[in-house]
Amino acid sequence: MLSYQHGYHAGGPADLHKHIVLAGLIALLTRKARPVTYMESHAGRGLYDLSGEQATKTGEWKAGIGTTTPDGPFRQVLDTVRAAHGADAYPGSPSVAKALLRPTDRIVLMELHPAEHAALKAAMGQEIEVHKRDGREGLLALSPPKPRRGLALIDPSYERKEEYGETAAFALDLARKWPEAAILIWYPILAAGRHGPMVERLRAAMPGVIIDETTFPAHKGRATGMTGSGLALLNAPYGANEIFRSATSDEKNE
Ligand SMILES: C[S@@+](CC[C@H](N)C(=O)[O-])C[C@H]1O[C@@H](n2cnc3c(N)ncnc32)[C@H](O)[C@@H]1O
Repeated sequence: MLSYQHGYHAGGPADLHKHIVLAGLIALLTRKARPVTYMESHAGRGLYDLSGEQATKTGEWKAGIGTTTPDGPFRQVLDTVRAAHGADAYPGSPSVAKALLRPTDRIVLMELHPAEHAALKAAMGQEIEVHKRDGREGLLALSPPKPRRGLALIDPSYERKEEYGETAAFALDLARKWPEAAILIWYPILAAGRHGPMVERLRAAMPGVIIDETTFPAHKGRATGMTGSGLALLNAPYGANEIFRSATSDEKNE
C-alpha cells in the first residue's frame, strides 16, 4: 500500500524532532575525516514546499517549523535549502544528508512510490544513488556498504499495524549485516500504543539503544491522532546523548 505522501506532514512537529536529531548525528559522524555511508530505506521526495497544496491542506508545519527557529546543524541545513529554493522550502531527510555530508561520503536512498521517487531523483541530482526499490530489501542487499562507517535512517509510514514488528525485525537484521552503522528509527506515538512492543524488542536485543520520545500538546498532533514522536538509535556513536538533549531544547525554543 503506497497511499501515504509525506508532503502533508512535512515540517510538522514529528519531522522537526527527527530532522534535528538526524542533522546532529550527521554532524557528529563527520567530525572525523574518515568517510561515511548514509542510507535511507524510506526517503520520501527529499524537498517540500510549505506553501504547496499538501502542506497547506493540513497546515501541520505551523505547529512544527512554524513555531521555532532551530539552532545547530539543522539550522545550517534549513538556511542552505532556503537559500537555494526559497523561504517556503523545507528539507526532507535526504536533503539534510545532502547539505551536511562531504564529497567523500556516500548517500544511498530507497523510495518505492513512483511520483515520490521521481521527485526525489530530481531533488538529489546525479551524484546521489536513488533507487526505486523496497527499502528493507534494498538496504539489506547493499549492506555492508563501502565505506563501512555510517548511518541508516528507517522512517516508514506505518500505514499497517504490522509495520512496527517488521521495522524492529528489519533494524535488527540490518545491525547484524552492517554492525558499524548507527541506525536511527522514527516511529509515531499513537493513543493505541502500537510502538510499545517494537521498542521493547529493540531494547531486549540491543541493550545500549537510545530511546527519545516527545509528547505533543493536544493541538500539535497529526489529524491521524498522533500524540507524540519517537526515535530509537541503535549502535549510538559516542556523543549521541548530547544531541538528543539539545534537540529537545530546540523544539521547546518557541
Ligand atoms: C515518512 S515518509 C519518509 C519521510 C522522509 N524520511 C523524511 O524525513 O523526509 C515514508 C516514505 O516511505 C515510502 N515507502 C513506503 N513503503 C516503502 C517501501 N516498502 N520501500 C521504500 N519506500 C517506501 C513512502 O512512499 C514515503 O515516501
